[in-house]
Amino acid sequence: MMGGRREGPLMRNTSHSVVKSRILMAMAIGISFGCLFAFLYPHGIPSSSAPAFHSRRTQVLSTKCESSERLNELRKEYSAASKENAGLRQQVKELTEKLRLVEQGKDHAQKQVEALGKRHKAGAFGTIKGLRTNPTVIPDESVNPRLAKILENVVVQRELIVALANWNVKDSLEVWFKNIKRVGIPNYLVVALDDKIAEFCESNDVPVYKREADEGIDSIGRTGTNHAVSGLKFRILREFLQLGYSVLLSDVDIVYLQNPFNYLYRDSDVESMTDGHDNMTAYGYDDVFDEPTMGWARYAHTIRLWVYNSGFFYIRPTIPSIELLDRVAGRLAREPKSWDQAVFNEELFFPSHPGYEGLHAARRTMDFYLFMNSKVLFKTVRKDARLRKLKPVIVHVNYHPNKLERMKAAVEFYVNGNQDALKAFPDGSDW
Ligand SMILES: *[C@@H]1O[C@H](CO)[C@@H](O)[C@H](O)[C@H]1NC(C)=O
Repeated sequence: MMGGRREGPLMRNTSHSVVKSRILMAMAIGISFGCLFAFLYPHGIPSSSAPAFHSRRTQVLSTKCESSERLNELRKEYSAASKENAGLRQQVKELTEKLRLVEQGKDHAQKQVEALGKRHKAGAFGTIKGLRTNPTVIPDESVNPRLAKILENVVVQRELIVALANWNVKDSLEVWFKNIKRVGIPNYLVVALDDKIAEFCESNDVPVYKREADEGIDSIGRTGTNHAVSGLKFRILREFLQLGYSVLLSDVDIVYLQNPFNYLYRDSDVESMTDGHDNMTAYGYDDVFDEPTMGWARYAHTIRLWVYNSGFFYIRPTIPSIELLDRVAGRLAREPKSWDQAVFNEELFFPSHPGYEGLHAARRTMDFYLFMNSKVLFKTVRKDARLRKLKPVIVHVNYHPNKLERMKAAVEFYVNGNQDALKAFPDGSDW
């Protein structure tokens, strides 16, 4: 256990209000002084002009000792009072600033205390680690009792694979669930967006959840373009998280070769496969931008990363995760021309800046050889004797339009051991 001062929300409030009332009292005193002096000296306090005033007056009044003494007294009083007033003004200024900071800090501190529970001392150099695994939400079955019931019989360890499908992707879906079954993954579910695909799943003994018409948002699902369905995806996903389950969201153009649940870290809000194709593009690198006209400072360093693939990611049921889904769904609704994967990445990665509050979600990039995109397979792996021997967990045919062909080829290569199965394909698409 780490040491540290316990400070409950109640104590924070109390100490805040004491500080606050002291500050307010000091401000009131300061303001009263200010008013008094503004009344006495509408043209300002005679500080720099005081010596001139004094020397002239002294000459005139020097004959009258009493008056002179009285004047001296007054002068001292003015001087003391004016110093005090300046001091008070400064104090009021400082206190106002402190009050502002306290008010500003209260919100953040309050939220963090609520989210994290207690504070810790930092501990020795090299021994500390930031919190990255956010607590899961309390499951709320009232969100969708029917789905909750279905999930009880599907999930393993409170997690499952979820795919959305309509009749348009029937052929890919078939390869998808055949391989899931072959690998022996029990915890998966198809969210059927039309009746035909629901029936197709049922007739193949595939766990399926068909949304009812009055379940609202998904009239798009039946006729929708890919991108319309994408928006829907984030809203449906929200219900799974609210029910307290972790979801491995999966497109259907994916071939399962091993059980992905054996390869997750579960330490982040979002753990995603990447569109990157090597260590740098997948995991991030310093991309140096060169501007020769800047001479000595011609090199500007940038941070780069190939985007996360929004067609295959593991998302834990946490507040930041649900906030992510809401942000993405909200933006897709407001910006109909936007691309869900771009929006997903922007929300995940852009930091807070003036006018924008960034998401505070923890992220993890999956191993790009284990969770392999089709560029990695066709551009690199199939040509490399050593990499060919490596067995991925999944292959996602995201980089190629002839999905079904390449999915089947991947099955031929990895499952049936046909070493030539990938040969016929070009690296990229032929257009
Ligand atoms: C990529 O990173 C892995 C793990 O850090 C390392 O073993 C491998 O050699 C790297 N590959 C290249 C091409 O640098």
